[in-house]
Amino acid sequence: MQFADVRRVVGGVPFITPEHALDLTNLILRERPEQILELGIAHGTATCYMAAALEEIGRGKVTAVDLKVAQFRPSAEEQLERCGLGRYTEVVRMQTGYTWFLHDQMRRQSPDGICRPNYDLCIIDGPKNWTIDGCAFFLVDKLLKPGGWIIFDDYAWTYAAADASRSATDGITHRNLSDEERTTPHIREIFELLVMQHPDYSNFVVYGRQDWAMAQKLTCSGEKTYTVRHRTEYGDLLSRAKGLIRRAVMRPRSAPAGIAAAGPKL
Ligand SMILES: C[S@@+](CC[C@H](N)C(=O)[O-])C[C@H]1O[C@@H](n2cnc3c(N)ncnc32)[C@H](O)[C@@H]1O
Repeated sequence: MQFADVRRVVGGVPFITPEHALDLTNLILRERPEQILELGIAHGTATCYMAAALEEIGRGKVTAVDLKVAQFRPSAEEQLERCGLGRYTEVVRMQTGYTWFLHDQMRRQSPDGICRPNYDLCIIDGPKNWTIDGCAFFLVDKLLKPGGWIIFDDYAWTYAAADASRSATDGITHRNLSDEERTTPHIREIFELLVMQHPDYSNFVVYGRQDWAMAQKLTCSGEKTYTVRHRTEYGDLLSRAKGLIRRAVMRPRSAPAGIAAAGPKL
């Protein structure tokens, strides 16, 4: 199943944006990861895009982890079924969250007391919390192969920004946090203080709109690189076009009739 086909089935379902879904698809087609770990699934929309990319390269698995209590309709299982991509995925639901799943994986991967990494790509897209996701980074690091990639969603997200819509996020009550904890983006802190300062990570990419950040685990020590990737979004183009037309419409009398007529339709 190709990107456009998946988009037709899951395109209107949160949470991954079509732009990041395409970024993820291109990354998978380029890097050809065999084992992908998705921490935080919700409706499984990103899971479907990743499974479709694995189907295109003909092998691999997405292990997708969420909470037992998380109820989303449509569910990840339903969306995967609609796309016919179930065989490329394993959905795991945990009682307390993905840090204990990572514990179980480390235990499984350490038969002789040394943890053998088994993932090529990991996307962390859960509670956006310093304690949980900071811990998750170090646990994922034990399981990520050299050369593998780690992606964080919600780079600039804050509890303060979420105050308008709810009083608690994934078990964390906003008013129990200090002002600094409420207004500081936790994922940005994890990325800048834990990932970028870790001796084994480089090729840092932060997306210009500050919702995604990614890094690669080095195969050998080398120089670190940092890129900010900007994209001219469709929305930007549309608002610029609207602004131009509005200005043309406002210009008294001299504006050509055709432009003035187009104004109200926008
Ligand atoms: C933004 S959604 C994930 C969206 C999905 N990756 C996508 O792009 O389609 C965040 C998910 O993280 C889950 N979550 C939050 N805290 C978690 C935890 N500690 N362990 C596992 N999942 C968690 C929530 O239940 C929710 O489904």
